[in-house]
Amino acid sequence: MVEKRGIGDVALRGRRVLLRVDFNVPQDPSGQVADDRRIQEALPTLHHLQTSGARTILLSHLGRPDGHRDPRFSLKPVARRLSSLLGQPVPLADDIVGIHALEMSARIENGQFLMLENLRFNPGEEANDPAFAAQLARLGDLFVQDAFGVLHRNHASTVGVPKRLPSVAGLLVAREVRELSRLVDAPSRPYVVIVGGAKVSDKLPLLTSLAGRADALLLGGALSFPFLAAAGHALGASRVEAGLEPDVAALLAATKSAGSEVVLPTDLVVDRPGATAPEVVHVDAVPTDATARDIGPATRERFLRALSTSRTVFWNGPLGQAEDPRYADGTREVLAGLRSVPGYHVGAGGDSARVARELGVMESFQFVSTGGGAALEFVEGVELPGLAVLPNA
Ligand code: ADP
Ligand code: 3PG
Ligand code: MG
Repeated sequence: MVEKRGIGDVALRGRRVLLRVDFNVPQDPSGQVADDRRIQEALPTLHHLQTSGARTILLSHLGRPDGHRDPRFSLKPVARRLSSLLGQPVPLADDIVGIHALEMSARIENGQFLMLENLRFNPGEEANDPAFAAQLARLGDLFVQDAFGVLHRNHASTVGVPKRLPSVAGLLVAREVRELSRLVDAPSRPYVVIVGGAKVSDKLPLLTSLAGRADALLLGGALSFPFLAAAGHALGASRVEAGLEPDVAALLAATKSAGSEVVLPTDLVVDRPGATAPEVVHVDAVPTDATARDIGPATRERFLRALSTSRTVFWNGPLGQAEDPRYADGTREVLAGLRSVPGYHVGAGGDSARVARELGVMESFQFVSTGGGAALEFVEGVELPGLAVLPNA
């Protein structure tokens, strides 16, 4: 594991600190914060900066407004939620490097905060434009990176600014790196991974990397469909991502030569037109009009058996369409069962973290990452640009 310089290693009193956070949180239809976990997880760093007397300027993105100011993606509701969590007002400048940001940042006092508007309102953010990065950097004396979820992006606020200012990792980034590194650096064995979700093509690099490192890969969700198809099973009306045959074959060959096991569903919960309730079918007997929505009870048992002797578990991706209570049993039962298995359990993924919370199975994990793509790339062993740019301890 590479250790980065941290906020405990630098003087903070009276200094203007640019703090990059990932407050890209889900919003409800009225725009309010629907889930504040990413804000909550940044609080330790904010408290540290506050009690150390730093003058903190918060930087974040929200959604993908594509370089234009768009009120639907304003950080206003986020600043409001943060203010109430901190018990201290966090004013929001209505621009990023404009006159308001400049004036308001000059007035911050020790131990106080200011938030700038959504970084992605400026096209310079995602383009990592040098002029935009330089304007941002001029607002601070020190840069603190605590936006783990966006470290896989090459943006002005993840790469451009830390190249221009003395920089350290925040407490959340340090914690994410420490926890996720345990999956990459010599995990206790057996190391079992559970991967589900919707799109195999997105997760092929992750699966390929894990193929050589995990002892067993338990595959569920729509992600397992191309593997089941490759094994000769007809999946009725289920949508099987096409054109992946060579990749699936290569992956199976790689796991085989690494001596790791791939465990596929043997039964499925399907939905049929006109049926009043979901049916459980064997993978060899999926009716032509049936759509697979979840793994079946025999598969749950099989997965739990593989997990029972594990020492390290990594989970990403629901094992079925878990947002629908009729198709949530597979994900819930497997993850709930994990709770009684001793060992180190980590979950990651944007939808996965939400599903785990909704199904009440967060307790099965020692750590659930705040990252989606960033966490998957980290576990895959990819160097994240936003991390690489930070100086080592
Ligand atoms: P993450 O964001 O955690 O990496 P994904 O985006 O890969 O997870 O997958 C999440 C989605 O996969 C969920 O919204 C879930 O409904 C869907 N999904 C999983 N299995 C199925 C299935 N059998 N049929 C339809 N959707 C599925
Ligand atoms: C995330 O939610 O995964 C991060 O905030 C990154 O967002 P992005 O995928 O829009 O870059
Ligand atoms: Mg997703």
